[in-house]
Amino acid sequence: MSDSVKEVLPTQNSISVGVRELEELRRKSIENPDLFWEPVANELFWFEKQGPLFEKTDAPPFGQWFGNWKTNLCFNSVDRWEKSARKNRVAFFWEGEPGDRRAITYHELYREVNRMASVLLNLGVREGDRVTIYMPLIPETIVAMLATVRIGAIHSVVFGGFTSQALADRVNDSNSKVLVTADGGWRRGKVVELKKIVDDALKQCPTVKKVVVVKRTGQEVDMDPYRDFWYAELMKGAETYVKPVAVPGSHPSYILYTSGTTGKPKGAVHSTGGYMLWVYYTQKAVFDMRDEDIYWCTADVGWVTGHSYVVYGPLLNGGTSFLYEGAPDFPEPDRWWRMIEEYGITILYTAPTAIRSFMKFGDKWPHMHDLSSIRLLGTVGEPINPEAWNWYYRTIGRNCCQIVDTWWQTETGGIMISPQTGTTQIPLKPGSASVPLPGVDAHVVDESGAELPENTKGFLVINHPWPGQFLTLWEDKERFDSVYFKRFPGKYYAADYAMKDHDGYFWLLGRADEVLKIAGHRIGTIELEDILISHPAVAESAVIGKFDEVKGESPVAFVVLRPGHGPTPATRRELMDHVRNNMGPIAVPGALYFVEKLPKTRSGKIMRRLIKAVVEEKALGDVSTLEDSSSVDEAEKAYRELQAEIHRGG
Ligand code: WTA
Repeated sequence: MSDSVKEVLPTQNSISVGVRELEELRRKSIENPDLFWEPVANELFWFEKQGPLFEKTDAPPFGQWFGNWKTNLCFNSVDRWEKSARKNRVAFFWEGEPGDRRAITYHELYREVNRMASVLLNLGVREGDRVTIYMPLIPETIVAMLATVRIGAIHSVVFGGFTSQALADRVNDSNSKVLVTADGGWRRGKVVELKKIVDDALKQCPTVKKVVVVKRTGQEVDMDPYRDFWYAELMKGAETYVKPVAVPGSHPSYILYTSGTTGKPKGAVHSTGGYMLWVYYTQKAVFDMRDEDIYWCTADVGWVTGHSYVVYGPLLNGGTSFLYEGAPDFPEPDRWWRMIEEYGITILYTAPTAIRSFMKFGDKWPHMHDLSSIRLLGTVGEPINPEAWNWYYRTIGRNCCQIVDTWWQTETGGIMISPQTGTTQIPLKPGSASVPLPGVDAHVVDESGAELPENTKGFLVINHPWPGQFLTLWEDKERFDSVYFKRFPGKYYAADYAMKDHDGYFWLLGRADEVLKIAGHRIGTIELEDILISHPAVAESAVIGKFDEVKGESPVAFVVLRPGHGPTPATRRELMDHVRNNMGPIAVPGALYFVEKLPKTRSGKIMRRLIKAVVEEKALGDVSTLEDSSSVDEAEKAYRELQAEIHRGG
């Protein structure tokens, strides 16, 4: 370890001061949420402040924030700057994959968003209606999101890498009326034909009456004259001002689908008031965004990180951000580093997977560029291994930038556990997300919900409601209650393993449920199994996550075939394609094994833990609950056979 890394590691004395200070702040915020959050809320705009800021409720999530206060998320993100000098500041520098560039000031964004809000109104979208957004990362995507919340409607952004089936499922679950898309997007020099995917999906989506299409890639697309309209055409006839709707703090701002432990994705519904306060505050507290910063969060808007820390957090703080449309290594692995140098990016917020893949490309690529503009680094989405942390610190941070390792979830709305460079500096420990933010009553408990002693692995729970908490699961209150609040009654169950050390630092140790984190993306094992089972050749399937050096985890599938289907390389390829076509490339298994039967518990539950042990060549542990332990040998045997087959090039 170099001396410079040691400098940021804690010493006995340095730990206590900052951590104690943050702990004190946090204690106050939980004891008296009104007192703590009111001054923060006052930095934002509210049409009306009636009723309590925070109110305990009897049912999950056990609290409501700004229930009857009236505000508008778009107004706070965009209009609020119209009367200040920030009006003329760049909100977004954007670079497309082919190298085209745009810069959009707050005022330009304001104009565009107003017109898009008018377009949505003209298409019949009203308060509470859902708008699905299926786009590449271009400024119009953000315009569409802001325009939707401006008129009190609810957006549902679907990641542009999802396939038509995944898109159709999400559109139908939310019953969206309007869909906003583009003709295509650029990825590794090729066009991803988004409009074509939309056309395919909408065959199954009766609720979508109108489609708005942004021209991005310019290839020919089919346009249904009654349903599909070019964005540029509609914008021409639009009003230049649309009054923002004053919605209650508890009004839903968006739905974001994420994976859980059943085949059906969960639509996490976020509030307006609490969510707005949370992303505004956390953006400031964690990143300490300043006027001179050019901030780059590399997430796609299709994920929660994109919602909170590409769109709303930076805009609510009046910051200047950078956006990039395409692949990180296109045309060469120095793409990111070149853009950081050229735009003078000061804050880089990305995922451990990206860091690990850049590590693999080698130091040569970042060394080709001057990265001295960077002053702060961040990570999110999965645990970061100390090796990647140290590489990030040395090679990208040049041994002088703090790293904020931020733990949070789609459900939490914003960052929950992280160093807070905007508040108090604390020593960093590579691999630990450090301490909870104000408002976050985080604990590590055992199976029975009892608090665990230091350095003991257990389940992470949040005992008190926090402002950014999601409201519910879209049209599935029952699932909301049972998934998150039943296991430890009255507490939010995060479904993550964690450990708290002597200094009060949290170490996040991965998912405790059947959700995988593949390159930072959440994929439910059961979701993948359902897709495999939907193929006519498959009788049963089990999916587990295997350690992957770059992606963190990679899905490995075990399949029992139906009679008449052979375990051939062709079947394997077909099943891989089936997953790719139904969910998208991120979910394609790294390996797929054919077995005669799957190991199950007596009650018929697939023993994924056991299959994982087989795959990772670890001890099998307790097999006493197996229905038929011979099936484990079988899985092992099949695995060995398959390894042999792979070696033979089969
Ligand atoms: C994991 C992403 C360790 C965790 C914002 C969580 C992390 C899941 C970290 C949520 C971190 C996120 N360290 N693990 N800093 N950040 N996770 O909903 O398992 O896509 O439950 O939200 O990512 O994933 P989601």
